[in-house]
Amino acid sequence: MKKVGIIGVGEYLPEKILTNADLEKMVDTSDEWITTRTGIKERHQAAKGEAASDLAFKAAEEALKNAKLKAEDLDLIVVATITGDMPCPSVASILQNKLGAKGAACFDISAACAGFVYGISVAQQFVASATYKNALVVGVEVLTSVTDWQDRNTCVLFGDGAGAVVLSEVKNRGIISTYLGCDGSKLGLLNIPAGGSANPASTETVRNRQHFIKMQGNELFKIAVNTMTRAAEIVLEQAGMTFADVDIIIPHQANARIIMAVAKKLGIPEGRVYLNIERCGNMSSASTVTALCEAVREGRVKKGDIVLLDAFGAGLVWGACVIEW
Ligand code: UT7
Repeated sequence: MKKVGIIGVGEYLPEKILTNADLEKMVDTSDEWITTRTGIKERHQAAKGEAASDLAFKAAEEALKNAKLKAEDLDLIVVATITGDMPCPSVASILQNKLGAKGAACFDISAACAGFVYGISVAQQFVASATYKNALVVGVEVLTSVTDWQDRNTCVLFGDGAGAVVLSEVKNRGIISTYLGCDGSKLGLLNIPAGGSANPASTETVRNRQHFIKMQGNELFKIAVNTMTRAAEIVLEQAGMTFADVDIIIPHQANARIIMAVAKKLGIPEGRVYLNIERCGNMSSASTVTALCEAVREGRVKKGDIVLLDAFGAGLVWGACVIEW
């Protein structure tokens, strides 16, 4: 098996910024509540008509440039998203056409906030086995398109964005270990009830606001902390490492309080935790990858560093990954 690593990164956040002050005018909330309960100050919002593939395209172009590759060099495109341009075809197919990555195999992954970790775990197998040489993995969401702007429990949380990485053979250890999991029995805690085959779109589903994200945040909070802690422990054990070996943890950004509780349980100091939730909110599949790309660009991740990705979300799904940069 080949050693597989990330050879290029790129992210894109839509221009429009929605602040907590903007939300104060839309629902009964306050900057104080949002900041203290979540750590979010602002989030990006895609423009009208700006679809997931548009965001993904900009992030992918940047990642290819960073990897010094051309779109034609890609032979696999995997996109993690729960807010694709349309139910069919995949965002990956649309992105392939926009990039001009002719001939690359394409599919989407639906694993919500753990989508990017699922994505690199799957794509890694193809590159490690030499089935494909260069794989593009994107995490992208336009969550504001499925946000209920009348529901203060959820509308203050979500944002839009995209991050992309190129996977290829590397000389160091690259992706050392991945761990994925799911507990489908708790899917009612976080979902979009209508718009699929179980509950197709109708005037009734629209009237009942069933095309928007429904979340029982309070019940998820404790599960998120425990699951992300356990996932990090397992993936490091698989890698034959301890938390002392981790230079930076890049977690899914659902809530700064969740992230800090996980870091505390793991004994990882605050300075080794990367946060972009204050500027971006929760971007589901796009959160972990965007944070990773930003951390690399800012020099927070350096060659030889051990990076721990840790994510949890709707499904309920989780995933963690250890990478030598
Ligand atoms: O993406 C991965 C999966 N998602 C998660 O892991 C999210 C996990 N959950 C959370 O991050 C937090 O539970 C939330 C941020 C969603 C909510 O924070 P909380 O501290 O758990 O608040 P709560 O749901 O227990 O609500 C506390 C109070 C309630 O009022 P009462 O019943 O105590 O009078 C809510 O109605 O806060 C109220 N509330 C708000 N108040 C002002 C809820 N949303 C708001 C709001 N502004 N936006």
